[in-house]
Amino acid sequence: MPDGAERRDLVVEYRPLDTLVAYARNARTHSDAQVAELAGSIREFGFTNPVLVGEDGTLIAGHGRVLAARKLGMAEVPTIVLTGLSETQRRALVLADNRIAINAGWDNDLLALELSDLQDAGFDLGLTGFSGDEIADLLQPATGEGESEDVGAADEVPEPVADPVVRPGDLWVLGPHRLLCGDSTSPTDVARVMAGETAALCFTSPPYGQQRDYATGGIGDWDALMRGVFTALPMAEDGQVLVNLGLVHRDGEWLPYWQGWLDWMRGEGWRRFGLYVWDQGPGLPGDWGGRLAPSFELVFHFNRVGRKPNKTVPCKYAGQDTHLRVDGHSTAMRKADGTVGAWTHAGKPTQDFRIADSVIRIGRHKARGIEVEHPAVFPVALAEHVITAFTDEGGICFEPFSGSGTTIIAGQQTGRAVRAIDLAPTYVDVALRRWSLLHPDIPPMLDGDGRTYDEIAAERVKEASPKADCVIKPCRSSAAR
Ligand SMILES: C[S@@+](CC[C@H](N)C(=O)[O-])C[C@H]1O[C@@H](n2cnc3c(N)ncnc32)[C@H](O)[C@@H]1O
Repeated sequence: MPDGAERRDLVVEYRPLDTLVAYARNARTHSDAQVAELAGSIREFGFTNPVLVGEDGTLIAGHGRVLAARKLGMAEVPTIVLTGLSETQRRALVLADNRIAINAGWDNDLLALELSDLQDAGFDLGLTGFSGDEIADLLQPATGEGESEDVGAADEVPEPVADPVVRPGDLWVLGPHRLLCGDSTSPTDVARVMAGETAALCFTSPPYGQQRDYATGGIGDWDALMRGVFTALPMAEDGQVLVNLGLVHRDGEWLPYWQGWLDWMRGEGWRRFGLYVWDQGPGLPGDWGGRLAPSFELVFHFNRVGRKPNKTVPCKYAGQDTHLRVDGHSTAMRKADGTVGAWTHAGKPTQDFRIADSVIRIGRHKARGIEVEHPAVFPVALAEHVITAFTDEGGICFEPFSGSGTTIIAGQQTGRAVRAIDLAPTYVDVALRRWSLLHPDIPPMLDGDGRTYDEIAAERVKEASPKADCVIKPCRSSAAR
């Protein structure tokens, strides 16, 4: 025993719950959610930790566990009666028991390892007390084959603001790209952003069905929105249209909400040319209502005329011939008539690049900023992947649901020009500030005006409150607005 500490022989005694009295001045609080967590833990592990009570049955430690036990309908719980404490010591212990535990830290590497092993063993990580977001952060996959880098600067999205600088009708020029705050169902708006050009690719992610309430007030009629946008597509003759959509569940079923739109597209001459899976990486822990953890979305590929995708994926055996069959026999699939086509690469070493897979393996990135309100922001790497496969350098990509401007960032990184539209001034604002963080030397300019975003911001704030002595933060600061 340490000096000064008196030895107490601890005896565990089961006491009826209704004999335990909460300490009237217990300063520790227990939300319903936390009590539910404690109840889940007791259900899983049992009541593993006796509560501490004074001789009169007043609780010293374990208020939350007692509430959870009541919630579970338990009749009694294990207690340890602490004797020999002064009244002052007892009160201090109520605080110390809670507070000292909080002062411990975490070894995040070991924590991640432990969580990951538990997950592999099929354990419900929700029972560990860590939130879904914390677990997702800790289990964020390390970079590996087929996965994107961890969130890079390009995926950083500034927070949306309530009072955007952008106004409906603004057309912004960002280097070689153009971004209109307008309506993609409007042929006039589309013509304005395209300025006479046509697009080699449309890559976009519309709202997923009628479920979201964007800053624009929600989607009233999803089919009408999609028909409006895809009637007005400014595509080149051999333009390719790739549309990312995720699942929506309602009343216990996933909805084929895209069916009416797919049929309509076909009627308009858009072939259902390809269907791809975006594999978003390992599913997140949680209770998914009885389903497996969601970890994919779909990409629908339409065209009127085919266009060979560029070869963008490095080949494992590039330049080598050691693995080639000496007799030059083909690995092509047998045709319906039983013949096997000749090996087109017979005698040649393996090519450097190949066509990408129909499963696009690019990890989703962590929720941050805009995604709280705008959960369908896709990673820059996804847009880059599609853009480089279906356009050549300098090619034009149309993005009718621009959101936070991910496709524009991808266009800049791959040497393509993006023509983008979003209805919501607040998202166009986000896209402009996001651009400015990455390209401070190429300030967004208001088309036909000659002024930069920062200059327009200063002007518009002055208009809004002419007397205010306002200081406008430049949009290239991440703290701006
Ligand atoms: C799923 S989000 C796109 C997210 C985007 N992929 C990103 O990475 O940020 C859909 C966007 O469509 C916009 N939108 C909805 N109706 C529109 C319309 N008629 N014209 C243009 N944009 C529209 C919404 O404001 C929202 O920002």
